[in-house]
Amino acid sequence: MDFSVKSGTPEKQRSGCLIAGVFEARKLSAVAGQIDAVSGGAIAAILRRGDLEGKKGQTLLLHNIPNLPSERVLLVGCGKEKEFDEGRYREVTATALNALKDIGATEITSYLTELEVRGRDIAWKVRQAVEVSEAALYRFDQLKSKPDNNRRALRKVVLAVPKRSDLAPGELAIKQGKAVADGVKLARDLGNLPGNICTPTYLAEQALALGKQHGLKASVLDKEEMEKLGMRALLSVARGSRQPPKFVILEYSGGKDGEPPVVLVGKGLTFDAGGISIKPAAHMDEMKFDMCGAAAVLGALQAAAELKLPLNVVGLIPSSENLPDGDANKPGDVVTTMSGQTVEILNTDAEGRLILCDALTYAERYQPAAVIDIATLTGACVVALGNHPSGLMSNNDQLAREIVGAGKYTYDRAWQLPLWDEYQKQIESPFADMANVGGREAGAITGACFLARYAKQYKWAHLDIAGTAWKTGKEKGATGRPVPLLTQLLIGRAGKGGAGAEDDAH
Ligand code: BES
Ligand code: MN
Ligand code: ZN
Repeated sequence: MDFSVKSGTPEKQRSGCLIAGVFEARKLSAVAGQIDAVSGGAIAAILRRGDLEGKKGQTLLLHNIPNLPSERVLLVGCGKEKEFDEGRYREVTATALNALKDIGATEITSYLTELEVRGRDIAWKVRQAVEVSEAALYRFDQLKSKPDNNRRALRKVVLAVPKRSDLAPGELAIKQGKAVADGVKLARDLGNLPGNICTPTYLAEQALALGKQHGLKASVLDKEEMEKLGMRALLSVARGSRQPPKFVILEYSGGKDGEPPVVLVGKGLTFDAGGISIKPAAHMDEMKFDMCGAAAVLGALQAAAELKLPLNVVGLIPSSENLPDGDANKPGDVVTTMSGQTVEILNTDAEGRLILCDALTYAERYQPAAVIDIATLTGACVVALGNHPSGLMSNNDQLAREIVGAGKYTYDRAWQLPLWDEYQKQIESPFADMANVGGREAGAITGACFLARYAKQYKWAHLDIAGTAWKTGKEKGATGRPVPLLTQLLIGRAGKGGAGAEDDAH
């Protein structure tokens, strides 16, 4: 999709479709009012007939508006003006794009970017418009034998800005929005691929291809190399699978030589059946999404490279399947991790922490500025927080605040849970240094407690994306989260526009 910004009034735009907001009780937005004025009251007259109240989710497509060079006008209900906020702005933008998907317009001009969103500037609105539009137009049909592509596709989206001085910030916002949207698309595509296609080997190949395409240094460790490093927790998970495990290392060097990198560690479990502690059949297909942390790391690295951010970023992806087998981990097995610490595997389905702990130990060699792991780690996190925020746990409150801020800015939010020492008791083991599960209570936190024992050498945060990485039900599919959050964090660290590192105002 081609995005651009333009300043100017609607009667001068020649577009396939103008998009304008209407608030509840038929209150015209500024632009809808302008269209109404030049058309001699055509909009108000139509609304008086009762065709659009202005409720959120409503749309009305109009043709042949007098004195308007554009072919159509799409009116979009924005709900009550007093309630109009960031979330509503995103919803309304998505509603408009969805309404236009199936009409003939190939080029549209949106004035929704001129709606007032409290505390947010034009750069924010433009960037969100780009990200939300790309997400609304996303389709995953590469596995259909006959992709349905008989509609005329939207090619060009013009975003209106109020002043000429908004054009430059608007253009930067488009660039950033595109990079985020591309990263999100990459993560969604990988996430949506089934386990028989997206194996650890496939993930590793994609990482190598990404490295080539964007000039990242990429390498893949195979089983023998992992054995030499002593990654026995990771390897124990892979023992139940016929697919060989992989450990992906990607290095983006946009910063100075020797500058400590941000290390992103993504859980790359390409299918999680639970192992011997096997999962029930219902929804087990969704465990193909258990590599969404890995996909998010690839997406964020791609975005950083696309934006040429002046900082160093490393991506680490431990990747395996988790299946039952005669050689698989058994409850009660004890393994020695790369760190030297031993683990009693009480539940083979708590495998994410087993592959991540060795990756966290591997991360020490970078003497990182910060390490963030991203993992679909626990069902308990979904119980605690639902699908709106990712769970955040950290050994450093400043890093946690930075992540929360980046999430707020991009509306890809995270919510911090406590990581108090008292919880560590739950994962004590009589036979090893720790157990890999801590009982029913506070399952998201005890998962993080386990990882914390491998992240003592640096500032570290853990994002549990079990609730946010994909949607279930009718809209089943990967979301690409938290690529927006991660990219924003990197943009903030690179000091390049958008929000600062913290976004405490919201
Ligand atoms: N990949 C799952 C977590 C998960 C489950 C995410 C359901 C989204 C929906 C993870 O490997 C897992 O199985 N975790 C266990 C941990 C438990 C055994 C301590 C879980 O959440 O049940
Ligand atoms: Mn599991
Ligand atoms: Zn898992």
